[in-house]
Amino acid sequence: QTSCRWERLLRSQNFMEIETPMLVKTTPGGARVYKVPSRAHPGKFYALPESPQMYKQLLMIAGFDRYFQLTKCLRDEDLRVDRQPEFTQMDIEMSFIEREDIYKIVEDLLKHIFKRSIDVNIKTPFTRLTYYNAMTKYGSDKPDLRFGLEFEDVTEIMRHSDFSVFKSQIDKDGVVFCLNAKGCAKFSRSEIDELIEIAKTYHISGLAWIKVGKKLESSIVKYLPEKVQQQLIKKVKAEENDLLLFAAEGFEKALIVLGEIRLHIGKKLRLIKEDEYKFCWITDFPAFEFNEETNSWEAKHHIFTSPLDEDIKYIEKEPEKVRAKAYDCVLNGVEIAGGSIRIHKKDIQTKMLQVIGLTYDQAEEKFDFLINAMKFGCPPHGGIACGFDRICALLCGLQDIRE
Ligand code: AMO
Repeated sequence: QTSCRWERLLRSQNFMEIETPMLVKTTPGGARVYKVPSRAHPGKFYALPESPQMYKQLLMIAGFDRYFQLTKCLRDEDLRVDRQPEFTQMDIEMSFIEREDIYKIVEDLLKHIFKRSIDVNIKTPFTRLTYYNAMTKYGSDKPDLRFGLEFEDVTEIMRHSDFSVFKSQIDKDGVVFCLNAKGCAKFSRSEIDELIEIAKTYHISGLAWIKVGKKLESSIVKYLPEKVQQQLIKKVKAEENDLLLFAAEGFEKALIVLGEIRLHIGKKLRLIKEDEYKFCWITDFPAFEFNEETNSWEAKHHIFTSPLDEDIKYIEKEPEKVRAKAYDCVLNGVEIAGGSIRIHKKDIQTKMLQVIGLTYDQAEEKFDFLINAMKFGCPPHGGIACGFDRICALLCGLQDIRE
């Protein structure tokens, strides 16, 4: 009988609360798991669940088509303000649904929780941004939308500049993105150096900048022909007193760096409205990411995540183009939930496994209980897990979930 009664809301929608085991077989999430030695089977170990992922999928195959659970998850990870080795998820899985159904369930759940616990009416449906748009506008897959400072892609404009740093990146298929820090031309040299230091922590070649006065002012302006300057001013809507910041690098790195600088400036100029709640869905994540260290592809969410129907054709030859039916819910720059629609067809599963270097047989050995269960007939299904600790912290106006 909590005052919030979020469980009741789910029960009233025919969700069944089911408890899953704590001593489990290793599951396919990315996180490192804790292991527990078995006395009865010397030399063998149980894993502690990094999430109930396998179990909730098994439940769908077994015919429990609406499941939820408030559950502990354990991950052997480094501590951060929003990350603990032991945390709690509000875990959900449903059969015969699509992404829209999950968005609706979670939006209703959060609306209820925010109203009942802190008397805040949140607006639904939430804003939606594809991963690509979130990265290219805000340099983050968990953007804080309480303030603007969006980026512009100026790669094509800078292709015609004579600045060697930009040109060499563009020649290597890199990008040049610009953040127009409105009204920041007043920044002192040391304030700009502070921004450059942030960029350096990401090992990028540097952060170019231009102050906008009556004309453009910077040591790099001499490398920008008049036409390039005019195109730039138009593209980034530069006005007197603006400070233009440029990151030239590979796509992701350039954007992540500008994203950090955007946050730094947002905080420094107090652009963030502390009492606002800005929710959004981030969709269409890449299905795979390339691990430079192991020189191989890995699943970005997990390997049972369904690709977008229109991207199935790329799986075998161009895995970098495959987007997934994966989604995160973000509030004020914090990822508060994440999930996906799962694969329920063997041929697609086999192709996805081949990208990460596993044959179907090897996968069957690794995740035998799930793959075997799928042979009995698997409904289309998907789910999500909400980070309970993070939501509680945000409800209390806190950053650190340990508080
Ligand atoms: P994921 O790993 O994205 O997805 O986790 C879901 C949500 O749990 C929260 N979270 C954490 N909170 C505190 N400390 C941590 N170490 C931590 N790790 C994650 C976040 C995150 O959005 N099985 C999938 C869900 C699914 O596909 O249905 C999963 O666990 O808020």
